[in-house]
Amino acid sequence: MRNRRAALAAIAGAASLALTLSACGQSGEGGSEESKGSAKGGTIGIAMPTKSSERWIADGNNVVKDLESKGYKTKLVFGEDDPDQQVAQIENLITQGVKALIVAAIDNKSLNNVLQQAADAKIPVIAYDRLILGTKNVDYYASFDNSKVGELQANYIVEKLGLAGGKGPFNIELFAGSNDDNNTKYFFNGAMSVLQPYIDSKKLVVQSGQTGLTQVTTLRWDGATAQKRMDDILTKSYSSKKVDAVLSPYDGISIGILSALKSDDYGSKSKPLPVLTGQDAELASVKSIIADEQTMTVYKDTRELAKVASNMVDAALNGKTPETNDTKTYDNGAKVVPAYLLQPVSVDKANYEKVLVDGGYYTADELK
Ligand code: GAL
Repeated sequence: MRNRRAALAAIAGAASLALTLSACGQSGEGGSEESKGSAKGGTIGIAMPTKSSERWIADGNNVVKDLESKGYKTKLVFGEDDPDQQVAQIENLITQGVKALIVAAIDNKSLNNVLQQAADAKIPVIAYDRLILGTKNVDYYASFDNSKVGELQANYIVEKLGLAGGKGPFNIELFAGSNDDNNTKYFFNGAMSVLQPYIDSKKLVVQSGQTGLTQVTTLRWDGATAQKRMDDILTKSYSSKKVDAVLSPYDGISIGILSALKSDDYGSKSKPLPVLTGQDAELASVKSIIADEQTMTVYKDTRELAKVASNMVDAALNGKTPETNDTKTYDNGAKVVPAYLLQPVSVDKANYEKVLVDGGYYTADELK
């Protein structure tokens, strides 16, 4: 078994050689039309899951910006939610001689072979936002407190419905993310740790009966898939009842659920929209919150996540130990991956200006 510490030290040596070469006006890297920024450091490969969600585009751009400011070049690729395409892209990055990889996995279990190739080439790997499972060849994990995300969503529902004050019973439906994303179970279990006692005491009733994680997942986080499931649930279980809350793990899914609700005449005085959660503070959802449709979202500052991942790469390539704040939670089946977890923030109509506009995430104009 290869010694990772020795490997990282070797990479640090290679990185400082690249720095020396570039200081002498030479480059250790071949040119590439995807390469950007200063030629001082080596090239870092960044594999993001899809461009279909704006958050990943922002993540990619922020990582590029941070790495370039540290003197690295970058190659940024998006896998269009196709696991095979992502594997091919990462293979390509390795062949092109990247010095480190930052990967937000599409399918958390499909990367084992390609990450073995990365390990053989002594390339450190940072799992970005989503943990990669079943391989020792992932060095660090940069993410948010994913259980907390679910807790924030569920606590919001509890508070809005007045459950803690004894109100109820209310009807709720549950949605979860993609079953091949490791975050999905953390979000769902985090939420259920708050909701389950109310379901047990029948203050919350899931009229569809669909409460198990495998019954409520949404492949590839697809909004249209969620819309279809919500349509079916409304038809089958709510012809003579109203749904009061919907647990949605992600803004793209919330928008799909909202379409189904509106097609069923929710949103009027006699049939108000249910409390509807979300995640990522995507532009469409923040606008929807301002318009009193989606109720809340969980904001995760992708600028901060990008910084954490870039710092991890920089430390690993310079023989330093990247900063982590959780060395227990994220067991990927082959090892516990040292992680740095950021804190998510609950956002609704009452605080979006303070958090998102004053925080510089969106301008007031963008939200008009
Ligand atoms: C998850 C991520 C969420 C959301 C979702 C869909 O892995 O943690 O913030 O972006 O993917 O893209």
